[in-house]
Amino acid sequence: ETTVTLMPTMLGFTAVPKSLADVVAVPAGYSVSVLYRLGDPISGSVPAYANNGTDTNFAQRAGDHHDGMSYFGLSASGTAPDPTSSLRGLLAMNHENITESYLHPNGVTAGAVRLASEAIKEIEAHGVSVIEVARASATGAWSYTQGSTLNRRVTPNTPMTFSGPVRGNAMLRTRQSPDGTAGRGTINNCANGTMPWHTYLTCEENWAGYFRRDTGDVAARTAAGRAKENVSLARYGIGQGRAGNYAWSTAVPTDATSTVFARWNATIVPGMPNDGTGDFSHEPFTFGWVVEIDPFDPAAAPRKRTALGRMNHEGCEVGRTIAGVKPAFYMGDDAQNEYIYKFVSATPWSAADATATNRLAIGDKYLDAGTLYVAKFNADGSGQWLPLVFGQGPLTSANATYPFADQADVLVNARLAADALGATPMDRPEWTAVNPATGEMYCTLTNNASRSAGRVDAANPRAYTDPKTDGRAASTGNVNGHVIRLRETADTSEATTFAWDIYAFGAGSDLDPNNINLSQLDATNDFSSPDGMWFGLPSNVTGQATPLLWLQTDDGSYTDVTNCMMLAAIPGTVGDGGTRTVVNSLGGASSSAVTRIGKTPGTTLRRFLVGPKQCEITGIHSTPDGKSLFVNIQHPGEGGGAGNNTSSWPYTQTGAATGSARPRSATIVITKDDGGVVGI
Ligand code: FEO
Ligand code: CA
Ligand code: CA
Ligand code: CA
Repeated sequence: ETTVTLMPTMLGFTAVPKSLADVVAVPAGYSVSVLYRLGDPISGSVPAYANNGTDTNFAQRAGDHHDGMSYFGLSASGTAPDPTSSLRGLLAMNHENITESYLHPNGVTAGAVRLASEAIKEIEAHGVSVIEVARASATGAWSYTQGSTLNRRVTPNTPMTFSGPVRGNAMLRTRQSPDGTAGRGTINNCANGTMPWHTYLTCEENWAGYFRRDTGDVAARTAAGRAKENVSLARYGIGQGRAGNYAWSTAVPTDATSTVFARWNATIVPGMPNDGTGDFSHEPFTFGWVVEIDPFDPAAAPRKRTALGRMNHEGCEVGRTIAGVKPAFYMGDDAQNEYIYKFVSATPWSAADATATNRLAIGDKYLDAGTLYVAKFNADGSGQWLPLVFGQGPLTSANATYPFADQADVLVNARLAADALGATPMDRPEWTAVNPATGEMYCTLTNNASRSAGRVDAANPRAYTDPKTDGRAASTGNVNGHVIRLRETADTSEATTFAWDIYAFGAGSDLDPNNINLSQLDATNDFSSPDGMWFGLPSNVTGQATPLLWLQTDDGSYTDVTNCMMLAAIPGTVGDGGTRTVVNSLGGASSSAVTRIGKTPGTTLRRFLVGPKQCEITGIHSTPDGKSLFVNIQHPGEGGGAGNNTSSWPYTQTGAATGSARPRSATIVITKDDGGVVGI
């Protein structure tokens, strides 16, 4: 490990006010440029984006809904990783979802059968981009390199392989891969992970929503001897009687042999083999994974890392890597009352692997064998990592709710295993981030409308009512979310116990300081629904004792007051605050909970950016010198549609009068006008 000189730490900018304007606002002394927008062509042969619904070939354009993102420095030769390069690099980013209407000339064409031409655009607008980006000079402008041989789109149709304990398992046998070793594509990719061996992890979040499952499928599976699949599908939110997002399965392919639309219907087809190889009844088991991509090898098939379990994977960030110690990978499962997980490799870290050229093989080494754990938070501020290991505790064939067959069954059904172990249901675990100076792990708990006064606990202690000023009904539950953090026992990633507290509670600064605005936020830092999160540069680059924590919001509750935002923080350490008794506004004294609260953020948490209308701020990374910060603006104007757009960002960013220009998700670059490190 590097020894660093501890320097005083302070935030070096003036807070940006809350705003409802259709523009990205940053502090005085900073500039924003727009780098990579929905529809921008990545190959040289694809025309510029018309942005009127007529564009095609999204497999060679930027997808929609930019999300998690990593910057990888690129060597002068243009082919290899160079972790010191701040002028040339690759950006890998997720395209989580679409704002469907804006992709078509007059919105979605009505009818029981989707037009194939519309469905293929929508499918290809999902997935991942890898693009080459470059800065003209140390103080110059950034651009992406259209036509770079490293540019790549990964879509829901891209061939992939399975690796780890579930590879080849009966549950992964499909029409496309009868031996259960190959997958097809990735979807609803939310947050990410940046591996020290220069690969990109992309995480499949709300994949379940895309599947159609017709009424009658429960009975059909039971009759076919597949009743366990009904338990599993229900636990992952795929009940019967659903059309699936965007109803892609209704579209008729122009190529009669193609299954790109039919695969989104998971209903058993009578007369087909009963092992998933004739219909698409196993297709849902091929999603819900963490996927590793080598951004430096566009020909390499991405690998679905099954050892990390199957869930609504939000993100997967690695903890500190220390030679001889098994590294940990921290993950949230984003749905109400789901859990926080960590995977500990079976293999201790070897520093030489950071410069190896067989990057996906290094991924095999650290991500295919190890132990998956789920978190239990105790009221006294302690916690346990409970192992998801077949044969231990309730994870056996004798389990009454779901009889587990083997370790692959435990991983495919990680949620059922975590239920059985007694993990703590959380207020929607979103991103994880690890403080490189301390090893402490932070996880955003974005909000939870189903958190009620009767079932608050120390780690999820708030249930309250937040009125609205824009005519909407009041929100209830944990309306504004919080950020929990933990410190592993003895500061080792291999620990099976930890200490925890809550770093900050989201809230409007006008709300009750005793029971809701527990972190005593003020007008410079009040926020709601924390989601994206990333620790900035290590101390030895910034000269600071503590790296900056960047916090981004994805909020519907606070949008009567402000658009979504990004804040910077100097976060302190676990246990730097105290304990408090919280009285829930929904339930009175009987529902009070003692909880552990971090030091009041005060001047160490400050609003740095506010986004345009109806956007989410998500995805963040920087160049290694800290002077260029990349941020994604997701779905501006998502509440509108073709002919009724509710934002014209990014056109509004330059002040141009653009009338009704359709909004576009986009990557922006933030630089400091004096050429310094962003944020300090
Ligand atoms: Fe894609 Fe949980 O946000
Ligand atoms: Ca998110
Ligand atoms: Ca969110
Ligand atoms: Ca979103």
